Amino acid sequence: MKAVAVFPSQRKVRVIDHPEPKLTSTTQAKMRILDVGVCGTDREIVSFQYGTPPEGSDYLIIGHESLSEVVEAGSQVSTVKPGDLVVMTVRRPCPHPNCVACRQGRQDFCYTGDFTERGIKQNHGYMTEFVVEEERYLNPVPHELRDIAVLVEPLTIAEKSLEELWMVQRRLPWDCPDGSGKSPARCRKAVVLGAGPVGILGALAMKVEGFEVSIYSRSPNHEEKNPILDAVDIPYIAAETHSTEEMAKIAGPIDVVYEATGASGVAFDVLKHLGPNAVFVFTGVPGRKAPIPVDTDQIMRSMVLNNQLVLGSVNAPPQAFQSAIRHLGVFKQRWPAAISSVITGRFPIEQALDALQNQPGSIKNVIAVASTAA
Ligand code: BGC
Ligand code: ZN
Repeated sequence: MKAVAVFPSQRKVRVIDHPEPKLTSTTQAKMRILDVGVCGTDREIVSFQYGTPPEGSDYLIIGHESLSEVVEAGSQVSTVKPGDLVVMTVRRPCPHPNCVACRQGRQDFCYTGDFTERGIKQNHGYMTEFVVEEERYLNPVPHELRDIAVLVEPLTIAEKSLEELWMVQRRLPWDCPDGSGKSPARCRKAVVLGAGPVGILGALAMKVEGFEVSIYSRSPNHEEKNPILDAVDIPYIAAETHSTEEMAKIAGPIDVVYEATGASGVAFDVLKHLGPNAVFVFTGVPGRKAPIPVDTDQIMRSMVLNNQLVLGSVNAPPQAFQSAIRHLGVFKQRWPAAISSVITGRFPIEQALDALQNQPGSIKNVIAVASTAA
């Protein structure tokens, strides 16, 4: 079967022929891959800055954002059957008995670093025709979401962040001041940094939760994004023309920041302008560039005097996949055109290398591995 593989030692990326996998246990299912999304992590992997092949292999099959259809289920598999649509999680646990996170299925919090990640770290990914996986890593998706469910994984980053936000804000009175008892989100302001797919999807999730959301971003081609953001009524503040201070005046007082760019200079600049008791969630993974000067006194002073919290968040557990699936359903009902226009390109697997290029104006490129099972 065809697969898109990166050969780091040869500095090559190509479509290869890889053996089709078979069930090796009764708790596994076999999936036909339908769609695979391309993200910044994949672009880093195919430019040899990130990613590791499985032990003993000189290549890594890439792809970790997927939608697939179950074609075969082992006799002990009970939650899915052939014909069902599923989205697979990405991270697999480390083997160490003392890693309490991995032992409890929370490898997104692995202590040892010896986890693997499908399509990223020592584990082949989904940019291929068939995959075999354990049932516990499968998340069923309703057929109504066939066209957009490939967006589940990038949305899980926000879902895990939101879950953590609710949890950490329980440390203080965070209710709405009007005594209405409505969700605290309904009287809080959130800023999303970055208008890529992770930023846009996160902004929609926060909007659905009730936050007043703005996006602050530096995107040369943000015209493509304006119709989406207009439809969902999220103001776009251009970083080219507004300093972080000006942005905070327009969008603030900022209660929550969801960072989805990996642009650390801007992020730390925004830290200076948070409101009281604010939470700042970092999700971007910056490349290693030259050091950037930061006003640490001002940041530390403001963080202490305002009881602020900075949180880093990576990967996502199954419950974040379930929340993402639920939220995508809401997006589709409320803003059907906007949510489908997040997917800006569909490519056959033979053209995966084109899809991996970051063309101007593209938001989310998808490899449509199989276009059946609509
Ligand atoms: C993926 C995560 C992964 C992270 C770090 C992201 O692109 O969505 O699942 O943990 O990269 O490898
Ligand atoms: Zn672990």
